[in-house]
Amino acid sequence: MVNFCKSSKCLIGKTAIVTGSNTGIGYETALEFAKRGCRVILACRNQEKAIQARDQIAALTGNENVLFKHLDLESLDSVREFAKNINSTEDRLDILVNNAGAANLPDRLTPDGLQLEMAVNYFSPFLLTNLLLGMRWTENKNFLIISLPDLLKQSAPSRVINVSSVLAKLISNLNLDELNKHTGDFNMYNKTKLCNIYFTQELARRLQGSGVTTYSLHPGVVHTDFQRFSNVLNYIASKCFKTAEEGAQTSIYLSLEDGIEEYNGQHFEDCKPVKPYCGARDEDKAKKLWEISERMVGLK
Ligand SMILES: NC(=O)c1ccc[n+]([C@@H]2O[C@H](COP(=O)([O-])OP(=O)(O)OC[C@H]3O[C@@H](n4cnc5c(N)ncnc54)[C@H](OP(=O)(O)O)[C@@H]3O)[C@@H](O)[C@H]2O)c1
Repeated sequence: MVNFCKSSKCLIGKTAIVTGSNTGIGYETALEFAKRGCRVILACRNQEKAIQARDQIAALTGNENVLFKHLDLESLDSVREFAKNINSTEDRLDILVNNAGAANLPDRLTPDGLQLEMAVNYFSPFLLTNLLLGMRWTENKNFLIISLPDLLKQSAPSRVINVSSVLAKLISNLNLDELNKHTGDFNMYNKTKLCNIYFTQELARRLQGSGVTTYSLHPGVVHTDFQRFSNVLNYIASKCFKTAEEGAQTSIYLSLEDGIEEYNGQHFEDCKPVKPYCGARDEDKAKKLWEISERMVGLK
């Protein structure tokens, strides 16, 4: 039995960003926000798919305040451009859902020198969140310090939701020396998802008292485009897995539910907090990961 988010919260006057919202769990999350009157920004890499999703959400909900903005998590330049655009065009940001993700990406470095899957699933969401929190950044390594508005803090109480996976459990001891090394398709994905959890823990620690809270989650095993690489898996998924609407419930719950601030930094499954996975209990590692990540994305 899937737990559905039961919150009746109205989101009129609020603004949310959902990354990777042209399909799957992200689409369903954005659709629910739009139903509740939210201004929803679909942060997607593919313009055609994103505009189709936007039109569909607007038609289904009657909410015209749904817009597409380009974001390709393969590129830190794209993340910076996106954040710059948001910071200059939006006057508030109540919810950021770092939902976009991919698996089985090839072993190659992005132009920023980052392992592709780490860039898409972890480093870029890390940078994006920081830029929307008004962190300072250096441009083109020339040490030009730019201070950005902190939309999330200005709109507090606000939330950052990081979509991880239960597969993070399979990494019992994250090796920070191999962060940017391809360690096999399966291991790579699990590693990125564990980073999402450590990122959430350290972000919560750093944001204490700011009114911005953050949570990570496993959405369940969900039938989406994630299985598109295999016809057999896709067929099995269509019969046995959660639907995308069901898979979006924990993201929606964490974005809307009142009174969950005491769980700041914690990991959720099926709309409930769960014990930290074995490999996600090292506070020092969370701190070190943050410091390394800052350097890797040019924040320090
Ligand atoms: N499905 C599951 O069983 C499951 C289980 C655990 C965790 N998750 C996590 O749930 C999240 C959503 O996955 P899903 O199942 O809904 O998969 P999905 O249907 O494949 O959706 C993934 C979304 O991420 C976007 N994306 C991929 N690479 C991107 C990039 N470089 N820049 C910007 N956007 C990018 C995709 O865009 P395109 O459409 O352009 O490719 C798509 O919108 C992911 O973080 C995934 O790791 C899923």
